[in-house]
Amino acid sequence: MSKTLVAYFSRTGNTKKVAETIFAALDGDKTIQPIDAVVFGDAFRFVFIGFPVYSHSVPFAAETFLKSLPPGTPIALFCTHGALSGHSLSKEALEYAAVLSARCRLLGVFACRGKLSPQALEVLLRSPEHQDWAEMAGSAATHPDEHDLAEAAAFARHMKAKSSSPAL
Ligand SMILES: Cc1cc2nc3c(=O)[nH]c(=O)nc-3n(C[C@H](O)[C@H](O)[C@H](O)COP(=O)(O)O)c2cc1C
Repeated sequence: MSKTLVAYFSRTGNTKKVAETIFAALDGDKTIQPIDAVVFGDAFRFVFIGFPVYSHSVPFAAETFLKSLPPGTPIALFCTHGALSGHSLSKEALEYAAVLSARCRLLGVFACRGKLSPQALEVLLRSPEHQDWAEMAGSAATHPDEHDLAEAAAFARHMKAKSSSPAL
């Protein structure tokens, strides 16, 4: 039970990029997999789980994965989102993800912005359901950027150190 798992769901590559950065920042025995490829035959000593915020919430595939995590597993959550950093919508998605994985031991969360294609943005801006975040999402066009990825790497190292702490 020594391996760290980085599991992610990503439709357009933003969350995958953050997941790969987290993975690269970790030392020791580790593996990275899209969530639909993960098999929990082996116990993992620590699991990072990443997803994009979709429709104010956690995508269904990530929701199912979070609910299936073995109880007691130490975990860290990360997400990408189009809205401005710190906006309540992305915070609420992470809070919901924490509720879904409540049987695990949550050590920390990380969020950064992720771009949308101009075509997707144009369509979403026409939908009243998406307007409140989509109006902010134009300025996410360069994210995740170098600064976001440096923060993701620092988050990974901090979480790994925390998971190795004897206090756990
Ligand atoms: C259909 C759709 C719905 C989305 N809903 C939200 C949302 O509710 N809030 C938000 O901040 N971003 C939203 N986004 C933006 C994505 O969360 C963001 O672009 C994310 O980085 C995509 O990650 P991925 O490339 O890993 O799939 C949405 C994007 C799409 C295409």
